[in-house]
Amino acid sequence: MCGIVGVVSGSNVNEKLFNGLSNLEYRGYDSVGMCFINGSNLNIKKGVGKLEEVHKKVDFSKLKGNIGIGHCRWSTHGRVTEKNAHPHVDCKNKVSVVHNGIIENYSELKDELIKKGHKFCSQTDTEVIAHLIEDNLKNSRIEEAVRLALSRIEGSYALGILFADEPGKLIAARNESPLIIGIGKNENFIASDVPSILSHTNKIIYLDDREIAVLTRNSHKIFDISGKQKPKKIHTIKWSAEAAKKEGYKHFMLKEIHEQPRAIADTLNERIQNSHVVFEKEFGLSDDYLKKINRIVIVACGTSWHAALTGEFMLEELAKIPTEVEYASEFRYRHPLMGKNTLVIAISQSGETADTIAALKEAKKYGVKTLSICNVMGSSITRISDGVIYTRAGPEIGVASTKAFTTQLAVLYLFTILLSKLKKTLNQEQIKGMIDGIRKIPLQLQTVLDEDDEILECAELYYNKLNSIYLGRGINFPIALEGALKLKEVSYIHAEGYPAAEMKHGPIALIDKNMPVVVIAPHDVYTYKKVLGNIEEVKARGGIIIAIASEDDKLIPKKAKHTIFIPKTLYTLSSILAAVPLQLLAYHIADKLGRDIDKPRNLAKSVVVE
Ligand code: G6P
Repeated sequence: MCGIVGVVSGSNVNEKLFNGLSNLEYRGYDSVGMCFINGSNLNIKKGVGKLEEVHKKVDFSKLKGNIGIGHCRWSTHGRVTEKNAHPHVDCKNKVSVVHNGIIENYSELKDELIKKGHKFCSQTDTEVIAHLIEDNLKNSRIEEAVRLALSRIEGSYALGILFADEPGKLIAARNESPLIIGIGKNENFIASDVPSILSHTNKIIYLDDREIAVLTRNSHKIFDISGKQKPKKIHTIKWSAEAAKKEGYKHFMLKEIHEQPRAIADTLNERIQNSHVVFEKEFGLSDDYLKKINRIVIVACGTSWHAALTGEFMLEELAKIPTEVEYASEFRYRHPLMGKNTLVIAISQSGETADTIAALKEAKKYGVKTLSICNVMGSSITRISDGVIYTRAGPEIGVASTKAFTTQLAVLYLFTILLSKLKKTLNQEQIKGMIDGIRKIPLQLQTVLDEDDEILECAELYYNKLNSIYLGRGINFPIALEGALKLKEVSYIHAEGYPAAEMKHGPIALIDKNMPVVVIAPHDVYTYKKVLGNIEEVKARGGIIIAIASEDDKLIPKKAKHTIFIPKTLYTLSSILAAVPLQLLAYHIADKLGRDIDKPRNLAKSVVVE
């Protein structure tokens, strides 16, 4: 996910572009760049790092012009380097492009263009767009050249394009990546979201897929991909600039909870091919090595540690590989026993958690291979480990992790499928069943999100309770831990996660009519009946039961005070679906209590100190 912004005006646009990028930084902050046209020359400055860091190095204020485009990057293709930072240009330095999205057929297009003599400077998919347009400019005017280039492109894009030879024209296009047009007074804008330009205009046109916009400072025309002009409605936005940054959601946490169907779909994208799991080059571990693994140790902190516990269950149950989960902070000070064929996995949203980095370094001293599961491209743990699988949750801003967690579960699930195939612990039919199951998850998550009423009611009834207990078994025990952690983090209510059957060895003493007990009880062949027994134990002591149950469950609603239903899925995947109502419950309770949900007291998004 990247951010793009562009302005065409009657006066210097430097400040507007800079501020626009600053508002978009939440979308990506590994590198940043701007391009202006002054006279008929493209002037570009770009670099690696956050906007302010790069500004200190290159001084963006030196760029001047009445037209400009800017970009903040969240890398997908190509490492985090200055060359790979946007904007990208053609061979003659006449076409400048900023892009958000993924061009799926870029490598065929790149080969074709190289054969025609085009010279590429970066490893990005974006650069092909500049060269493709340049190629079409031999025989067409710029609008037509863009249209012809886009008709060759497969994949997602939001684009801002400048032409040195037409210094008053800004071209934009979109397909499956957000892009809006802002209509100002004697100036027009493009942007990845409304808030980045809301201080200049609240008159917005939403581009639809496969539409191209041609903007000058006092005109705007929108075309479809066939070149036909389209009438478009101008919307007047009523959000405040602050609320709008959250795209209308009250908090980033809520926005990020709602992004999970998209985040999981992105995390799966291109990794399932003909019923096989295929990771990208940076995965770095060969099939021969993976076949030899006889033990896995996973290190992580916080929510990522809960994902690791879920992974332990998957890896042992399906790939039959003995797996242990360690708190990174404990592992780093032990002298762990490592065999030659032990794989150490580090899980981290940020890739910068100090204890996880230290644990990984400790593991490397033993000469074992390491793999990281991480959400931030180019972060420290990804650079230290032998291989990486990226979660593709996009930037997570709310301190309480939500979409990073469920995408970590999706990655662990894919990794388990791969190992199960190599270790021959599952046959192709079973693997196909697992793949079919996860493919349905984004849609199923959407149905969970759409039915928020029961969760809201629970929040309204119980937000003033001082304690709560979360119970789960098997793969859903870590989800109970995560549900309790979410509640603690954002509402400051004491909550304990416990294995449901273990409750009778202590916490049962706490249960009375004031104790909400959240029980995760999806239908499965393993523990469902036992969990029913645990529900009875709570009920007998007057506890308030909030159950998470499978959609067709007839028994649980008779026993629980509240039942939140999740769609039917495979047992291993029930953990992803069950996590979401618990995130929502924590969110709504904290909201009722008026907590600072995105920045809870004492917590940091990334703990970069020991
Ligand atoms: C902090 C955050 C948690 C996060 C943990 C691990 O405590 O507040 O939300 O789970 O760090 O972070 P990581 O980036 O390594 O996953």
